[in-house]
Amino acid sequence: MIEVHDLLKTYGEKTAVNHISWTAKDGAITGFIGPNGAGKTTTLKMITGILEPDGGSVLLNGTDIRKDPLKAKQQFGFVSDSPDHFLRLRGIEYVNFMADMYGIPTEGRRAFVEEYAARLGILDAIENTILSYSHGMRQKIMILGALIHRPSIWILDEPMLGLDPLASHELKLMMKEHCAGGNSVLFSTHVLEVAEKLCDEILIIKKGNLQYQGTLEGLRSKYPANLSLEDIFIEINKEDHHE
Ligand SMILES: Nc1ncnc2c1ncn2[C@@H]1O[C@H](COP(=O)(O)OP(=O)(O)OP(=O)(O)O)[C@@H](O)[C@H]1O
Ligand SMILES: [Mg+2]
Repeated sequence: MIEVHDLLKTYGEKTAVNHISWTAKDGAITGFIGPNGAGKTTTLKMITGILEPDGGSVLLNGTDIRKDPLKAKQQFGFVSDSPDHFLRLRGIEYVNFMADMYGIPTEGRRAFVEEYAARLGILDAIENTILSYSHGMRQKIMILGALIHRPSIWILDEPMLGLDPLASHELKLMMKEHCAGGNSVLFSTHVLEVAEKLCDEILIIKKGNLQYQGTLEGLRSKYPANLSLEDIFIEINKEDHHE
């Protein structure tokens, strides 16, 4: 479970995230949507302790990310929106590095890596350097590294970006399996068809302000019948298009 209370981030005059509060429940996939620059990445970086907030608090399975960062960080795996770290390592070296960091025993590791690498279609390249990977392959190895310690909370910033349809399908299945086990998944996306099909809960942010949290049905009930999530998204952001 992720609990966000009154989270605030400002850059000079600009308020990137404006006092937002919400909860991502166990057993649910929460989709985080909003236009470019709305504050999704900033929020996810504050949740994961990468960025210091100017106010508010974040609890991960009940542990405060600022008060007990080590314990809080063991609760989640984070896939950032830019997979271009650790380029000089080979795929398998990076995954082993992440596993060592979390103190995962070496036995049992191999089976997990092989199963998930095969499912994502990266197993053949695991011995090559990440520098030689395509964007989508880099994304896949970052996903493996983020999940190697089997965290209960998955936090993914645009995880489908650059993945081929097979890998994207497989990642969606993994997210569903993970939630079915009573865990939580929070991910940001611009692909509204994916959010519509996959998510139990939707978070909508606009210019740092939370516009909606709840089920897709709850959101739909506020609008004329038969509107897609895309229609509703455009409706919510309409005034900006006329500015
Ligand atoms: N380091 C920074 N310095 C100044 N402003 C920043 C910084 N990082 C983010 N911002 C601003 O904060 C706002 C939110 O940015 P953020 O990256 O969180 O958006 P986003 O919702 O993830 O967008 P996208 O969909 O394009 O990924 C933007 O207006 C951005 O310009
Ligand atoms: Mg972003």
